[in-house]
Amino acid sequence: MIDISTTIAGIKLDSCIFNASGPNDETLPQLEIIGKSKSPAITMKSCTIAFREGNPGPRYADLPANSSINSMGLPNLGYKEYIKFTKILKKKYEKPVVASICGMTLEDNVEMFKAFNNSDVDIIEFNPGSPNTIGKPIVGYNPIEMDRLLAAVSKICKKPWGVKLPPYFDFVHYEQIAKVLKQYPVKFVTSINSVGNGLVIDPEKEAPAIKPKGGFGGIGGRLIKNIALANVRKFYLLFEDKIQVIGVGGAATGIDVFEFILAGASAVQIATTFMQEGTPAFPRLQKELKDYMKKKGYKTIEDFRGKLRVE
Ligand code: SIN
Repeated sequence: MIDISTTIAGIKLDSCIFNASGPNDETLPQLEIIGKSKSPAITMKSCTIAFREGNPGPRYADLPANSSINSMGLPNLGYKEYIKFTKILKKKYEKPVVASICGMTLEDNVEMFKAFNNSDVDIIEFNPGSPNTIGKPIVGYNPIEMDRLLAAVSKICKKPWGVKLPPYFDFVHYEQIAKVLKQYPVKFVTSINSVGNGLVIDPEKEAPAIKPKGGFGGIGGRLIKNIALANVRKFYLLFEDKIQVIGVGGAATGIDVFEFILAGASAVQIATTFMQEGTPAFPRLQKELKDYMKKKGYKTIEDFRGKLRVE
């Protein structure tokens, strides 16, 4: 019997593969589809104080080889709706619900964290890593601002919470952000948000693939898998397993999931794969992971988590 369950922030998940905040998790019908699926948790779209239309379309494009570009611009219904949805989802599907908070200001974040304290939500993922808000830099690249936000949020939040990070590329930047995160009761980081401000060009049309920001958008899927694996590995080592790491970015097969766990991830989220394949992706990835673990002689994910063979 192969067990692919995990525990994130003290919350048990039957499988270590669940949906990332982002694709197809904005409305109640979309969230109910995830509720009915084999995803062991329901992650909701990053929310703001009020309804947001998001950026003008086209704002998402599939790319070859299980990849994507998006500049959605955080379209969402406003946090109060997600608090209502949580109650409905918990009652109907009896699985953990993950809220994602992405306020535009410190005050917005404080208001939303306070409100979610009194909700049925199981886990909160704070998202200061989105590259797609027009006129707003990626907060996760500013350690001083991150410190200010985390200090405020950690005083308020009574739920288990973690932080979704943008990708880092320089060892110095990993170290700076890890130093900030270690000061607060952060239970996990989710690495990585999309690789910000890529540009995809259609040579026939001589135009970018998406409209917002002159075509600049977050690259997701297989194209970013190796950057995601590096971020997972680096944070796993820097946190010495005291803060968990959730891997996201290009997991399209069970072997990809295996690699994320080998790098140190305690769970893996899927975004582009879920967008492109829908809910059948969950049982497929679960089966492929189990098959590969069987071949390797592993019975639980803890048998190999973090145990990348480095000389
Ligand atoms: C978006 O809505 O723009 C995607 C979410 C994110 O980048 O965090």
